[in-house]
Formats: sequence, C-alpha cells, structure tokens
Amino acid sequence: MLNCLWPKAPLNPVLANDEVHIWCIDLDDPVDDAGTMPGSSHLSGDEQARAARFRFERVRRRFIAGRGQLRMILGRYLNLSPGELKFKYLPAGKPELMDEESLRFNLSNSEGTALVAVTRNLEVGIDLESIHPFPDLLQVAQQFFAQSERVELEALPADQRLEVFFRVWTRKEAYLKARGDGLSTPLDQFSVSLAPETPSRLLTSNIGPAELSRWVLHTLTPIPGFTGTLAVEGQSVGIVHWRME
Ligand SMILES: CC(C)(COP(=O)(O)OP(=O)(O)OC[C@H]1O[C@@H](n2cnc3c(N)ncnc32)[C@H](O)[C@@H]1OP(=O)(O)O)[C@@H](O)C(=O)NCCC(=O)NCCS
Repeated sequence: MLNCLWPKAPLNPVLANDEVHIWCIDLDDPVDDAGTMPGSSHLSGDEQARAARFRFERVRRRFIAGRGQLRMILGRYLNLSPGELKFKYLPAGKPELMDEESLRFNLSNSEGTALVAVTRNLEVGIDLESIHPFPDLLQVAQQFFAQSERVELEALPADQRLEVFFRVWTRKEAYLKARGDGLSTPLDQFSVSLAPETPSRLLTSNIGPAELSRWVLHTLTPIPGFTGTLAVEGQSVGIVHWRME
C-alpha cells in the first residue's frame, strides 16, 4: 500500500508553464476494478517485449505498473487515452513524447514506489532512492563523487553519512537525467551541495559554464525512509505534489 504523504491527484490536472507536477505512484499494489494493473493493457509492442525480457517477476510487474501509470498520468494532461501515447528515446535512453514535445516528463523508481515529474517546455530529471544500509558507501563515493563531495562526506559524523550519501546520489543522478545523459557523463565532473542544512544546489560543473544558472535542484521526501531530487530548468518554478490513486 502506497505510504505517500502527498494529496490525492485530480483527474484533470492543469499545468502552468512555470510549474512542475510530481506524482507519487505505487508499483507493487496497483490493481484496478478489473483486477489488472492500471494502464497495463495500453503498453506498446516494444514495451511489452521489454517487460517480457525481465528475468524476475517482481521487476517485470513493477516496470509494467510504472509504464501503465506513466501513460495514464500523461494522458490526463493531453486528454488522450494511455494507449494513444507514443514515446521516442534519446541516445542514452531518456523517453520523450513523440507528438507532444512541449510536455516533458521523467520517472524514477525505487523499491516499489515511483515518482513522475511533468513540466511544459522545461527539461526535467528526477531520482528516488530508498535509504538502506550500504556499508561500502565511502568506497563508492571515492570512486564516483567529486573530490569536494568526498571530503565533506568523510568529515561527517558516521551516523549522518548514510542519509547524506543517498541525498547526494539523487542530486547527481537527477541532474544527469534532466540533461538526458544518464550515467554516460562521469559523476565526478560536477558537484552538488551536501551539508544537511544547505539547500539542494549544483555547485560546479565541467560540462559548461551556463550549467549552474540553467538548473535548479529540489529535495523530495514523499515517503519516510526515501530521499529524492528533482532537477529542472529555470530558477523559479512552482512545485505541486500528488499521489496517484
Ligand atoms: C538512466 C539511468 C540514470 C537510470 O537510473 P536508475 O536509478 O537505474 O533508474 P531510475 O528509476 O531513476 O530511472 C529509470 C527511468 O529513467 C528514464 N530514463 C532512462 N534513461 C534515461 C536517461 N538517459 N536520462 C533520463 N531518464 C532516463 C526512464 O523513464 C526509466 O524508466 P524505465 O526503466 O521504466 O523505462 C541509468 O540507467 C543510465 O545511466 N542509463 C543510461 C545508460 C547509458 O548512458 N547508455 C549509453 C548509451 S550510448
């Protein structure tokens, strides 16, 4: 059962140009009146083929639940049925709408919950992680984080490192997902804010001089025990949170 703290979503959401809507969805328990996963019958042939390739049943069901509900959400903005939507993919795999390019979105899932961010004409990336025990976090930070992030993480009291590690991870991944690069851009080529009392921010980026003013990061806490980040173009966007029912 989805334990999301956000209010129930409307059937006909209205999205302003300077807004981001963030939807929290359940991937483990989403069954409609007919006993099937909502939206699942609307998956395209390539989505069904991808689903069939997952080796583990639970991963397969979560993918289907995510795609089905993603289609339902986007269909609500476009007044289209979920099966009418067509996706195309950027070189590193970021999905976009084929015929409705002004409506942008991104999805992230973790442990049976997913977040979907939706905007108009603004690039967007989102990442969600469950905060779980991770004994090798300093080694992973050593391998992937920028030097300033590693130094700051190591200086923290040991009992604060786990949550901060996952928060930093989602900040970095949301930024890359907004750009569409995925993990093809090395994670040490840019740095994000880390200290718990500082706002979520991109601090440095070797990708280009305009990057720092192009993106804004927001911390998301939809469910206790999870942390997430939204990365979006523009400095003053309004954020609206919803729970998919
Ligand atoms: C995209 C990526 C960051 C996903 O990270 P993750 O933590 O495993 O997964 P998340 O749940 O946060 O996000 C997955 C979703 O992001 C979206 N996505 C996929 N690729 C993406 C990309 N490059 N940028 C932004 N979003 C992407 C999809 O909606 C995907 O959902 P789906 O698997 O149900 O289709 C990671 O898989 C990656 O780096 N992929 C790119 C691989 C690459 O660079 N290939 C190079 C080819 S030249």
